[in-house]
Amino acid sequence: MNVGGTLIAGPAKTGLSGTLHIPGDKSMSHRAIMLASIAEGTTEIHGFLPGDDCLATAQMFVEMGVRIDWLNDEKTSLKVYGVGLHGLKKPSRMLDAGNSGTCVRLMMGILAAQAFDCVISGDASLQKRPMKRVADPLRMMGAKITGEYDLLPLTIHGSKLHGIHHTSKVASAQVKSCVLFAGLYAQGETTVTEPRPSRDHTERMLPLFGQSIDVDEQGVIHLQAAGKLIAPQAPIHIPADPSSACFFAVAASLVADSNIILKSIGMNPLRNGWKRILSDMGADLDLQQSTTVGDEEVADIHVSYQSLHGVHVNPVDVPDAIDEFPAIFAAASLAEGRFKLTDAEELRVKESDRIAVMAKALRLAGATIEEFSDGASMLGGDLKGGVSIDAHGDHRIAMAMAVAAQCAEADIRIENAAAIATSFPDFVPLAQILGMNVHWDAS
Ligand code: S3P
Repeated sequence: MNVGGTLIAGPAKTGLSGTLHIPGDKSMSHRAIMLASIAEGTTEIHGFLPGDDCLATAQMFVEMGVRIDWLNDEKTSLKVYGVGLHGLKKPSRMLDAGNSGTCVRLMMGILAAQAFDCVISGDASLQKRPMKRVADPLRMMGAKITGEYDLLPLTIHGSKLHGIHHTSKVASAQVKSCVLFAGLYAQGETTVTEPRPSRDHTERMLPLFGQSIDVDEQGVIHLQAAGKLIAPQAPIHIPADPSSACFFAVAASLVADSNIILKSIGMNPLRNGWKRILSDMGADLDLQQSTTVGDEEVADIHVSYQSLHGVHVNPVDVPDAIDEFPAIFAAASLAEGRFKLTDAEELRVKESDRIAVMAKALRLAGATIEEFSDGASMLGGDLKGGVSIDAHGDHRIAMAMAVAAQCAEADIRIENAAAIATSFPDFVPLAQILGMNVHWDAS
């Protein structure tokens, strides 16, 4: 767990205002660096997210012999000198995914097919998260993966893989992408079926590297390995992360007299659940300047203050908003009437148990909230604040509570918030630009 770091967030003193450029999408940054590393040729990437999670992925490839040149000090632009599918070198030490589930699960798909063995692990939080969901299908493809209870650290013994037809029990883009990445090395066709569609950045990005992918009428994803990936001629531009934008959209919806613009935010329909849910709650989200970046749509989001009301979230929207529920819970705790979420048991196996940790934090801050195994229900109202809560080293809990605090009656101290650096290192300075009342405790 990423321990330490205390945020102090308090009632906003004025309405929020301003125009923000949000850093690049985390999911796409991981995938871009992974595919570029195992492609033939050089790939230029712009809009990369320089958060700890994506830097852990970059570091893994450096340790396996890939040259990465950073093109600016901020580490948002880079050149990756791909080594081809079979050009990675055995790392001299254990690979460290830090806090990142996307890094470890997608990397396992690649590592399972290498001509060497290696050990992969992560921090205390990642060591508790389920890896069986990826280890099992990889084993069916011929992989050899060993480790106690299928938890990190895991030893991946490089093996020859063959294609499988995988039916995933969970709507998980990490499971799907792991199997598809392994499928790049497999003999024969690999297919993936999901209970509900999850984010499709892998399917959109693979064709940029010359690997075709088909989705049939039933939604089954088919991949027949082309035998190589080829670096795209044009640079890859990564749109701004909608999951990061969501925190500010919620803050501006909650704080009276707010009016903000979030520039060029990724509009992938499978990441749009939070916008549908917030709009159903009454939020004023206006999309302008829609355009396409690479293979993804983007738009500016104008958000103005609007009083919110609770909703019963449609289970269909859950996979499309899976990372945004901490922020949505913050909105619901201050909205009028009852909010209810079900069918979201996946929240219990994220960077923390997000149902339990958010329920405890909001309850301490004054909310009335009932927990279920697969969700929560709450009657929105006022938040008293004036308390200290524990973010449990979960970046999104820390940011969600900083947003909720903007409408609390007194400051909230958010302990163990340093993990914000995993996905959104600039959260605090950008929040301050909008006028949010939040700062790191320097004492
Ligand atoms: C991600 C998929 C989601 C999401 C995570 C990023 C990805 O996880 O929660 O933040 O980039 O594939 P699951 O696949 O476990 O749902």
